[in-house]
Amino acid sequence: MVEVLETVAGHGGELVLRQDGDAFEVIENGVFLMDTRGGESERLLVNGAADRLAPGARMLIGGLGVGFSLRAALDHPDVGEVVVVEREPAVIAWNRTGPLRTVHSDALADPRVTVVEADLVTWLRSTGEAFDALCLDIDNGPEWTVTEGNAELYAPTGLGRLVRLLRPGGVLAVWSAGAAPAFTERLRERFASVEVVPVPVPRGEPDVVWFAR
Ligand SMILES: C[S@@+](CC[C@H](N)C(=O)[O-])C[C@H]1O[C@@H](n2cnc3c(N)ncnc32)[C@H](O)[C@@H]1O
Repeated sequence: MVEVLETVAGHGGELVLRQDGDAFEVIENGVFLMDTRGGESERLLVNGAADRLAPGARMLIGGLGVGFSLRAALDHPDVGEVVVVEREPAVIAWNRTGPLRTVHSDALADPRVTVVEADLVTWLRSTGEAFDALCLDIDNGPEWTVTEGNAELYAPTGLGRLVRLLRPGGVLAVWSAGAAPAFTERLRERFASVEVVPVPVPRGEPDVVWFAR
């Protein structure tokens, strides 16, 4: 039986945390955002980026969700520090002190983690920070954003801002619930190497992770 644990007004619309047996689900604006059942591609997003870097990497994770990507980053031997940018205070609270805390063994309490409560698209316009890896999973994909404003991230303007945040040799990793050939082309216009990695899922189109450097 599915139980609604909390419903709040979020920046991207109504945000619901549900429990279905052992699994938790996050729904935003009626659109399924994330659950705690799988997580393979969310882990690949950060592991694939960290595997391409030297030890001690400084990583940005865009979108906390249920913390699968964050947990994978902290478990990777080459990640030294992680900054998570998440715009929904409720998502941060569910992960910090609420039911999602058990999903990632209290990852937010790890001293290597800083959580920034902000809209990533807005934050990118003014931050002067630099990273070895930018791991982005705030939407269902470049062509299926959860809110209209997020589309800027995958457009030339947003990609230009991301490139400026990357240290030399750094990696941009982006998650999607499906292929997005036009986005691949935009990445190829800016990066020397673009890898598109499909990740099979139990039903439907594979997830896709891009690694660009
Ligand atoms: C699909 S979930 C991320 C899943 C995550 N990779 C994991 O392992 O659980 C997307 C997250 O991005 C957040 N988000 C969406 N748009 C955002 C934005 N513009 N800025 C910051 N966070 C955003 C959502 O609130 C949600 O927590």
